[in-house]
Parts: sequence; structure tokens; C-alpha cells
Amino acid sequence: MKEKINILKKELGITFEVFTRDQNAVKSSSDLDLLENKYLGKKSLIAQTLKNINDFPQEIKPLVGKTVNEIRRKIEDELKNLRNELNLLEFDKKLREEKFDLTLPGRALLAGSKNILYKVIEEIQEIFIGLGYEIAEGPEVETDYYNFEALNHPPDHPARSLQDTFFIDDRILLRTHTSPVQIRYMEKHKPPVYIIAPGKVYRKDYDVTHTPMFTQIEGLAVDKNINFGNLKWTLETLARSVFGKDRQVRFRPHYFPFTEPSAEVDVSCNICVGKGCRVCSGTGWLEILGAGMVDPNLYKFVNYDQDEINGFAFGMGIERIAMLKYGIDDLRLFFENDIRFLKQF
Ligand code: PHE
Repeated sequence: MKEKINILKKELGITFEVFTRDQNAVKSSSDLDLLENKYLGKKSLIAQTLKNINDFPQEIKPLVGKTVNEIRRKIEDELKNLRNELNLLEFDKKLREEKFDLTLPGRALLAGSKNILYKVIEEIQEIFIGLGYEIAEGPEVETDYYNFEALNHPPDHPARSLQDTFFIDDRILLRTHTSPVQIRYMEKHKPPVYIIAPGKVYRKDYDVTHTPMFTQIEGLAVDKNINFGNLKWTLETLARSVFGKDRQVRFRPHYFPFTEPSAEVDVSCNICVGKGCRVCSGTGWLEILGAGMVDPNLYKFVNYDQDEINGFAFGMGIERIAMLKYGIDDLRLFFENDIRFLKQF
């Protein structure tokens, strides 16, 4: 019996020696799997001995079990260490192969940027949306009716002349202002009306301060009991939001066919704060818009009852406001879409 145990011990000892040698040849986790299978798998000496433990006499079974399990545990420990080592090595290798250099500069995505005119339009829209206005739009190719006639232009009004207006034929033209949106909107909606209408307009003008196409925003408010004071407050609110809270607003009498009375509106210069500088030509004032009370004649064209309602309207050039607000001195910059210019805002 002693003999049998000794033989087993010897065999197991040799097995462990061979294992130790085999272990040195392991290079990868698949090698390790093979090794594990060879020494602990079903056909291994260890597994077979435990399986056939009943071949041993009852008295020595515990000793056989103990001996085999000792070796098994030793092998298991070795395998575990080896697996840890291999894992580390393989992780290290992976890291080296898939190396990211976090210090390399990224590839910049060049995002476009909104045209500054559009930003000014958005800013003004936000102000008026805050006051309860809606945004309205109209076509750039207009009829003489909406651009002039329904806006109370007498047939001989100079704005109608071929010199200022791009006519397509004798009835169709490129709108010279955003005011036709007033008529189009009133035709379709009953008062009260509070709208703001941005858009492109066209005039035969081309020099340092004029381009044949430019941008306007129109405002129109029609309701019961609207008066000139409401217009003044509204334009003051606008001027102070856009140019700064200390701005003053001044009205100069003017003439527009579609408003009565009419005014040109100045804001105190935001550069010299009213003292007088190059931008305001020494006057301390900047002219920014035209405005007035809606001429009651317009209501006839849109079937409003002129005894029930009053209104005010105003219109301004966006390029001019953007130039004054951002100190831009060349009108062409707005239309060239040079990213270096656009990115500054
Ligand atoms: N439409 C006028 C222009 O283009 C501006 C304006 C609009 C004036 C509304 C009064 C009322 O000059």
C-alpha cells in the first residue's frame, strides 16, 4: 500500500516537474488553455486518479485524495499566476498597438457662422416677439399694387420712377421696401395686428453706402387706441435694446405716402454718446428709421373700419443698424461672405 502511494507521489512529482517545464514555453492564452487541459483536464493524471480513487483500498483513499489535491492546487495556483501575467502582457501589447497620442492636435471642424445681418435681424425679432409681435413675410417680386398703389403712392410719386425701381414689366417689380407686407398681412388678418417683417428689398442704387439689394425690417401695429406715444415708446425700447440703455430717440418730421404724420427717427450716437463724431457727422445723432401713424387711406384697401382703429408703422435698414452697432465701415463686407469677416461677430 505504502508502495502504491509512493509510486503515485513519484508520478505526481514528475508531472509537476514536467508542468513547470511546459509552463516556461507558454506564450499566449491559448498555450495556457492547452497547458491547463493537459494537466487538469479529464484525461490528465490528476483527473484520472481522482476519478478512479475507488481502485485504491479504503484506508488510503484519504491520503491519495490529499496528495493529488495538493498537486492540483499547486498547479492551479501556477496557472492562475501565469494567466494574470499573460493578461497583463497582452493588455500591454494591445495598448502599444492601439496607441493614441492624446497630445496631437485634433482635426478642427470648420463650422460656418451666421451672417451678421441675419444676427441683427434675429436680435430685433427677439425684441419684438417679447413685445407680442408676430413675424410676417411677403414676396420679393411684387406687384405695383402692393408696393405702391395700396400704400397710397400718388401715380407721380418719384419712388415709382424707373430710376429707383427695378421693373420686370409695367405691373411687376422687385419690391423697393418691406412695406407691401403691411397690406398683404392686413388683407388676410383682422385687427389687432402686431407684426414685424424682415426681408430683402431692391433699389437702383449703387455707391459706397448703397447696394442694389439690401435688407429691411418693417413693423406694423394696428389696434384700438394706438397713438404716437405708443410708437415713440416702441422705438425707444428698440433703440435701447439694440444700441444701449442710455440712448435717446428723436423724431424729425418727414413725409412717407403711407404714414401721416411721418417722421424720420434718430438715435443718439452710440460712439460719441451724443457729443459729435465722424460716424454721426458731428451731429450726435444717427438716423436709423422711418416711421409714422398709418395713413387711414390704407385701411380702405384692406377693408378695415378706420373709425375703429389706429396704427403705427416703421421701417429700418438692417445693414445700417449693423454698421452702426458693430463699427463696420464698408457695406460690401456684408455680401462677400468672407469667413474672416463673419467670424468676428
Ligand atoms: N418703407 C419706408 C422706406 O423704405 C420706411 C417706412 C416704413 C416708413 C414704415 C414709414 C413707415 O423708406
